[in-house]
Amino acid sequence: MSEAFDLIVLGAGPGGYVSAIRAAQLGMRVACVEGRGTLGGTCLNVGCIPSKALLQSSEEFHHAGHALSAHGISVGQVAFDLAKMQARKNAVVEANVKGVEYLFRKNKITWIKGWGRIAAPGRVEVNGAAYEAKHIVIASGSESTPLRDVAVDEKRIVTSTGGLEFDAVPAHLVVIGAGYIGLELGSVWRRLGAEVTVIEFLDRILPGMDGEVAKQFERILGRQGLKFRLGTKVVAADASGNAVRLSLQPREGGETSELSADAVLVAVGRRALTERLGLGELGIRLDGQGRIATDERFATSVSGIHAIGDAIAGPMLAHKAMDEGAAIAEILAGRVAHVNYHAIPGVVYTWPEVAAVGKTEEELKAAGTAYKVGKFPFTATPRARAMGETDGFVKILADATTDAVLGAHILGPDAGTLIAELAMAIAFGASTEDIAEISHAHPTLSEAIKEAALAADGRAIHL
Ligand code: NAI
Repeated sequence: MSEAFDLIVLGAGPGGYVSAIRAAQLGMRVACVEGRGTLGGTCLNVGCIPSKALLQSSEEFHHAGHALSAHGISVGQVAFDLAKMQARKNAVVEANVKGVEYLFRKNKITWIKGWGRIAAPGRVEVNGAAYEAKHIVIASGSESTPLRDVAVDEKRIVTSTGGLEFDAVPAHLVVIGAGYIGLELGSVWRRLGAEVTVIEFLDRILPGMDGEVAKQFERILGRQGLKFRLGTKVVAADASGNAVRLSLQPREGGETSELSADAVLVAVGRRALTERLGLGELGIRLDGQGRIATDERFATSVSGIHAIGDAIAGPMLAHKAMDEGAAIAEILAGRVAHVNYHAIPGVVYTWPEVAAVGKTEEELKAAGTAYKVGKFPFTATPRARAMGETDGFVKILADATTDAVLGAHILGPDAGTLIAELAMAIAFGASTEDIAEISHAHPTLSEAIKEAALAADGRAIHL
């Protein structure tokens, strides 16, 4: 069988499904190859969406048990049913993946079920059948980076996939890696009653984030009961007994110590998934980190084949992949499109949340950029006080000469939503003065952004 399409997309995650939909909207005949039983990729099935469902449920439980009494509300004994919580999470996932199926039908996109291999430019093979297309977009995503000496079984030693599926709360969960996944899933199980120890190789948590934010965040998580072993590596894991026995060593070497865990979450990063696509045979060039090398128009080294999302360079974030998916569709349709990589926000969906866009203070220092800092704490923000959520602050970094916003970092309630204003500021080349001149509704959390912008010039009102 051979069918001709304008575009075949490999992978139906956020990058792939968005490129398929946008290309179809632009009039192309589109097919999307996906071997998972459902559309939506890692994000919708085993990543962003199920984790947010469990974060929400565990937060509600924790809030009911710990925060309501401060409002004069007593609720008696608060309990949870993990099976129901998991069923709700599965329903949330299903609603989202079905939503993508609906959008595929609406846009007349053909879903080719199976794992695709590029046999030649313009030719994709799936389960022995061949499909022809003018353009091919690879959106194959990423997978958890394995850790040598810690073999994952997805039962007791898990990646984020297994870490979303526990049917009982582990008494002691050891998380390896204090990044996005480790801190989000560590928070979920901590709130539900697990003892959680986070082992991190570096001497700080959230390595890519602003150091000041990370330091204060570590203290907050510590108050929530997460224990940190920084500057530490895991050198062996033995899962043969009732408990998993981990051997730990200081990063620089030295005496090993033992730690026993009921479950271990390996969250030491993700790597591009490029195997079995036939890239080697085609001569598609990879970069030094195993990602598909592309130019600024997402073209690979082989004509007619493009790549986007986690499989190429850049932050491994769903919204980055989505933006690239929309952009490649526009480009293939002969239109102009680009992604502004300076203005991609990153959010850790713990409570409080951590959100960042643009440069960190460490990056500006390393680049020798002259900058100024405007900071404002949520303790001085009336709405945050009314909410009882006063941990954290807004920090804006601006060019010392031009006043242009170069980076922004928020630790606090709804930081992930608040950061959008600062992403827009960077995208529009706004200055702190521009932000300070905008009316921000009172009383809202967004006032902390206005005050931080004012603080960059030493003129915050409420400090
Ligand atoms: P990550 O890169 O965020 O963090 C990995 C952490 O593991 C780092 O702190 C690193 O120093 C540490 N590490 C590496 N090797 C280690 C070792 N041998 N022993 C101890 N620590 C070690 O990676 P993570 O959390 O696995 O997430 C993977 C990707 O998924 C990230 O790129 C992230 O952007 C994305 N993601 C995004 C989310 C969001 O947007 N909220 C949520 C979850 C994942």
